[in-house]
Amino acid sequence: MHKRQSVRKFKADDVPNADISEMIEAARVAPSGKNLQNWHFIVIKNRELIDKAAEAVRSKNEEISKRMDVADKTKGDRFRKFAKNFTLFFTGAPVLIVVMTETYIPSGYAEYEFIGADPQILDDLMRYRNPGMQSLGAAVEHLYLRAVDLGYGCCWLTSANYAAAAIEELVRAEAGFDKEGYYMAALIALGVPDGASKSPGRKTPEEIYTLVE
Ligand SMILES: Cc1cc2nc3c(=O)[nH]c(=O)nc-3n(C[C@H](O)[C@H](O)[C@H](O)COP(=O)(O)O)c2cc1C
Repeated sequence: MHKRQSVRKFKADDVPNADISEMIEAARVAPSGKNLQNWHFIVIKNRELIDKAAEAVRSKNEEISKRMDVADKTKGDRFRKFAKNFTLFFTGAPVLIVVMTETYIPSGYAEYEFIGADPQILDDLMRYRNPGMQSLGAAVEHLYLRAVDLGYGCCWLTSANYAAAAIEELVRAEAGFDKEGYYMAALIALGVPDGASKSPGRKTPEEIYTLVE
């Protein structure tokens, strides 16, 4: 856990499939609400497909920037410049994992719906306390820690999620992914780290826990 750091620069070295299997095995045994195991990892080692995923994000960046330009060119340009990072961190990785998940209906949701509860309550349950994303987080972290154990580094990426629909379309068309109801929740860039990463630091223990004896 202490060895893990986000890695954003990778060597070109291959990540053997046997090592990828070990990472998937770690994710497979992660806990999940209702044991739904609501995840699917699309592991892309194909350079052309990684480039196409980056292109999908870039094209969405340009679409957003152009629309921003209409109201404020400075804002459009700022986003255009910043958005480069969203692809930069995975185009250099030998492996890109597209993390797919499916909708999780939390316990109590159907019951609240049945009694005609305020839609705000349903939205709150779905959006802020949803066990589906919590389960997925556990699986990604299992995978990530196993990757570190095996000498690799990762960057967990959600900043390109605004272009997720385009990446989903790509993996459905070109990666043979055809599970119904699944959608992209994150990307993971994976590979052998090129150089050391610097930790951005952490809150102190006192800031993050309350002990009641
Ligand atoms: C859910 C999640 C989403 C993240 N998304 C991004 C991202 O889009 N881009 C990025 O560079 N880092 C991303 N990170 C990495 C965090 O910035 C990083 O974990 C944090 O700054 C702490 O640094 P460390 O991982 O090196 O300890 C993400 C991490 C998590 C857990």
